[in-house]
Amino acid sequence: MLRTQTSLSTWSQERSMKCLVLLGLVAFSDCIVNEDHEKSSSENNMLNNFLKEHAYRLYQTSSLGSNIATHLLRNFQDVMGNITIGTPPQEFQVVFDSASFDLWVPSVFCMSPTCSSHVMFRHIESSTFPPIRNTFSIEYCSGSMKGVDAHDNVQIGDLVSTDQPFGLSMKQLGFEGMPFDGVFGLNYPNLSFTGGIPIFDNLKNQSAVSELVFAIYLSKSKLEGNVVMFGGLDHRYYQGVLNWIPLIQAGDRHVQMDRITMKRQDIACSGGCEALVDTGTSLTLGPRRLVDNILRLIGAMPRTTFHVLGPITCPLLSSINGINYSLPAQAYTITDSSDDCYTIFKENTASASTETWILGDVFLRQYFSVYDQGNDRIGLAQTV
Ligand SMILES: *[C@@H]1O[C@H](CO)[C@@H](O)[C@H](O)[C@H]1NC(C)=O
Ligand SMILES: *[C@@H]1O[C@H](CO)[C@@H](O)[C@H](O)[C@H]1NC(C)=O
Ligand SMILES: *[C@@H]1O[C@H](CO)[C@@H](O)[C@H](O)[C@H]1NC(C)=O
Ligand SMILES: *[C@@H]1O[C@H](CO)[C@@H](O)[C@H](O)[C@H]1NC(C)=O
Repeated sequence: MLRTQTSLSTWSQERSMKCLVLLGLVAFSDCIVNEDHEKSSSENNMLNNFLKEHAYRLYQTSSLGSNIATHLLRNFQDVMGNITIGTPPQEFQVVFDSASFDLWVPSVFCMSPTCSSHVMFRHIESSTFPPIRNTFSIEYCSGSMKGVDAHDNVQIGDLVSTDQPFGLSMKQLGFEGMPFDGVFGLNYPNLSFTGGIPIFDNLKNQSAVSELVFAIYLSKSKLEGNVVMFGGLDHRYYQGVLNWIPLIQAGDRHVQMDRITMKRQDIACSGGCEALVDTGTSLTLGPRRLVDNILRLIGAMPRTTFHVLGPITCPLLSSINGINYSLPAQAYTITDSSDDCYTIFKENTASASTETWILGDVFLRQYFSVYDQGNDRIGLAQTV
């Protein structure tokens, strides 16, 4: 998600940039059908398919051993699950987002169409809801919201954070078609707009979790669904070595990337660049010129950035901290329900002074990710 805040320095503004991009990535399969026809408003179709074909439901929560809460998400496309707020609990679907900083849900005061099509928090019905204080606003790539600071009990599965600060949106722009009610920011406390201690830090403070670690498993199969783990990780969700990568700076989730290669040639990030590990973005985003370059190399049509023409076989390698992370062709190409083939590379519209790639869900579906806030590092391992 992209956010801007005028009172922050340009530097921190850049560091906090993030795009929430949720599109209808309907099936993951080899793109071998190559019809050369234009598709009108293909992105809209993808979004429509997405909305038609997917349900987002958390079906179970369970505690595994020592203070690790595993949150199984029935949803397979996005990192989305249910939380409750208030007493008695009111339920919301939120996107668990490793790169943004705030928790918010729509309020009943919100008149925007995107609020009324979602669950709105009825503060009057919560006995633990104190009076509202300050206002705030956040800008994302995909929209913006204005809201008020609130606090109340928030529950994710069996974990409860009492008197948790969060945001209630009063106005939302540009979230049309987004399947979630609100956003569950899991980044460091540094750039929070709603203020107060973020929920994950609070759960640690209140000893609900033993470690400031969460992990995310994105399933390759619709049957399983995604999983979010709080307080530790369950080793059953990855295979091989878990490689730890130091963050460039404590306070957000950027890591140093060495290069991006295809067919043994550097195709982007030559000489090094930054990568944001971001569960709130479904695609892989990078600077326009370099994305165009990759699209040319894989034979995607330059005018409609998604559409692929030729069969693709070469994996893309992202080298991070000396390790090659391979993204097979069938991971970075997607066929929709009309058998049209798309690539997952897209321009990052947020400008940054350094070359920055956003490694979203497509990358994270191949690599189980662990966010170790106590040691300022991210772990990546091959998913099972
Ligand atoms: C999740 O929340 C949504 C909306 O609040 C609700 O419709 C759905 O039934 C919930 N899913 C589960 C598994 O509780
Ligand atoms: C809770 O964690 C925050 C850091 O996020 C820290 O500043 C604060 O002092 C902690 N509070 C308690 C009661 O431990
Ligand atoms: C985030 O906050 C911590 C603790 O105050 C600080 O050490 C760190 O430099 C901050 N990081 C960023 C990117 O602002
Ligand atoms: C990573 O991939 C590059 C390009 O194919 C190769 O030259 C290099 O040896 C690989 N590195 C490792 C550690 O496997």
